[in-house]
Amino acid sequence: MSEPVVLGIESTCDETAAAVVRGRELVSNVVASSMDEHARYGGVIPEIASRAHAEAFVPVVSKALADAQMELSDVDAIAVSAGPGLAGCLAVGVSGAKSLAYAANKPLYGINHVIGHIAVTQLQFGSFPSDTLALIVSGGHTSLLHVTDVARHVDVVGTTLDDAAGECFDKIARLLGFPYPGGPHIDRHAQVGDPHALKVPQGLTQGRSGAAHPYDFSFSGVKTAVARWIEAQQAEGKEIPVDDVCASLANSVADVLSEKAVRACERFDSDTLIVGGGFSANSQLRNMLVKKGKRHGIEMRIPQIKLCTDNGAMVAMLGVNLVEAGVAPSSPDFSIDSAMPMDKIVME
Ligand code: KG4
Ligand code: ZN
Repeated sequence: MSEPVVLGIESTCDETAAAVVRGRELVSNVVASSMDEHARYGGVIPEIASRAHAEAFVPVVSKALADAQMELSDVDAIAVSAGPGLAGCLAVGVSGAKSLAYAANKPLYGINHVIGHIAVTQLQFGSFPSDTLALIVSGGHTSLLHVTDVARHVDVVGTTLDDAAGECFDKIARLLGFPYPGGPHIDRHAQVGDPHALKVPQGLTQGRSGAAHPYDFSFSGVKTAVARWIEAQQAEGKEIPVDDVCASLANSVADVLSEKAVRACERFDSDTLIVGGGFSANSQLRNMLVKKGKRHGIEMRIPQIKLCTDNGAMVAMLGVNLVEAGVAPSSPDFSIDSAMPMDKIVME
């Protein structure tokens, strides 16, 4: 089988998504989001998201197959996100995928959503180098990975010790009065603000803690510092310079992420950095990665915006990698794993 065709299904959070990938080609890509239903609560409500997945599952999968001008019998395998994510949401996607696989007698892979975020770059840049570094920045994860083989072996080089970068942005966005998810709003305002207006702490970059955690991240202090600064301004009756707050925050976080990623590439002798996760849509981070990549001779593989946030293509692409590598499909009774560890690529 030279060019496996895989149907990928995604339901970890508030997107119900399905896509068909053939080899390294994206044949169809359908995403339905329940984000609007969560906005007024300031975050994703698992119960509402699960119900939305149950409603959207069949229409989304049908459309992905129809757009690809395929029937279920035309795919070689099905892949579904088995974790990490919201348990109820994962259960809908995995149960649906199991039913399809059973009915059509197709192999099924319960894959790691986070690894999917980096796998998706292959649709734009081709296969991974045999030994490479990856930076994953999403709502729930901020990690540096050493990818020996995306289908078989991934090691965690560093990770956040507290909040994820996306989580930190979403919390500060809330203080500034932006609706959920706040990351894109901060991005937009940051583009016209002064990145040096306020000093934002850069956790684990200096002194002993920096030396002890060269590839780890910490963003909890960022939120506290920005919140204090806003309170102090308010106490003095001053107006909050929203653009400047956003620019200072975005600039500082992008600096830490890109700096540690570049250092990890040098440590592991990798001239490529694979980037993925919803936060990799952030323009300040993208710009800084490109700039530092040029300076250090590292090729930055950053997904196009529509492939940064959750989608089915990332799941299908990792499914293709697993089929190509001859990895055994997940067993029929495989479970969801809402806390799936980052070095686990597929459920047995
Ligand atoms: O990967 P993702 O879609 O969901 C998870 O698996 O967590 O990531 C969502 C996160 C949210 O925190 C959102 O605010 C953030 O990605 N995000 C951004 C941007 N677009 C999405 N953060 C900053 N700037 C953006 N342009
Ligand atoms: Zn994600």
